[in-house]
Amino acid sequence: MKIVVTGGAGFIGSHLVERLLQAGHQVGTLDNLSTGRIVFLTNDQYKHNHTLVQGSVTDRALLEKLMDQCDVVFHLAAMLGVKNTVENPLQIIESNIDGTRNVLEMAYKKHVKVIFSSTSEIYGKNQTLPFQESSDRVLGPTSIHRWCYATAKALDEHLCFAYADKGLPVTIVRYFNAYGPRQSSSQYGQVVPRFITAALKNEPIEVYGEGTQSRCFTFIDDTVSGTVSAMEPKANGLAFNIGSDTPITIYDLAHLIARSVGSSSPIVKVPYDKAYGPGYEDMPARMPDLSRSKSILGYAPTVSLQDGLQRTIAWYRDHLN
Ligand SMILES: NC(=O)c1ccc[n+]([C@@H]2O[C@H](COP(=O)([O-])OP(=O)(O)OC[C@H]3O[C@@H](n4cnc5c(N)ncnc54)[C@H](O)[C@@H]3O)[C@@H](O)[C@H]2O)c1
Repeated sequence: MKIVVTGGAGFIGSHLVERLLQAGHQVGTLDNLSTGRIVFLTNDQYKHNHTLVQGSVTDRALLEKLMDQCDVVFHLAAMLGVKNTVENPLQIIESNIDGTRNVLEMAYKKHVKVIFSSTSEIYGKNQTLPFQESSDRVLGPTSIHRWCYATAKALDEHLCFAYADKGLPVTIVRYFNAYGPRQSSSQYGQVVPRFITAALKNEPIEVYGEGTQSRCFTFIDDTVSGTVSAMEPKANGLAFNIGSDTPITIYDLAHLIARSVGSSSPIVKVPYDKAYGPGYEDMPARMPDLSRSKSILGYAPTVSLQDGLQRTIAWYRDHLN
């Protein structure tokens, strides 16, 4: 198949492109390289059946041209990260909403299947666990920027469902905390690379808040498997939770990483307002219900946190500088 991946030079995108090429597809990557890196796409396997177009999903003419040549578009291009969300709300809102609207409009025009990368953030601080795809979204007030990423992604999802009603084949995948090689440790403060980098340097590992908040960390291979399985026509018109359903607290994660690295880093607690500014709210726990993904996509995460962290740590050891 001919496939376009927006955001294909990023963390998840570059692993996805790799998997699609391995499966024999012809892939065009569209990326503005704001956080993505060309170096992720320079292995020998990218020489054949792959083109990298440097450009933005806000360029409608470029999108239309790319859609002319493809059967499926995976739309991952986005600005993300909690730190980014609280510091650059306008960019988060505009880039997420404008880009997705363009992708959907052009895909509809050309009848190209869309797989949209959404997030577990959209469930907000709902504490009825595990989250089913039909669970309520519970968000804080609009005066708190922390919620704008979740709101923008949720509006994107509404657009997806509205286009699905008009006949567009579209599937939403909601990722739960992906981690693995190539995730940025500096750009927007994702927790796994931040902890690994500190541990490797024997610097303090900073846990924000009390560290009792829990998350389900998903190794990148499992994130990509779920994303690829969403190409199936039976997935059209639906949203799917994609991730691990084994939670760990952030404090325990810090200990596990320090131990796995063999680090002497102390683990220190940093109040939320010091990390993200006043008024920051966090959700105490997040966990997916995977029943729908299992029954329709045949999806099940396969990599344990211990194995995934070992593979991730090995990559950071090689790439820290
Ligand atoms: N990493 C996670 O745990 C996670 C969790 C939930 C959802 N997601 C979603 O998955 C997708 C990929 O995230 P990631 O972790 O790989 O982040 P990333 O920053 O590594 O990848 C995003 C990519 O999009 C590109 N990009 C940004 N704006 C663009 C634009 N206007 N036009 C073209 N390219 C643009 C960036 O250069 C980058 O390569 C995003 O949509 C994100 O919201 C990620």
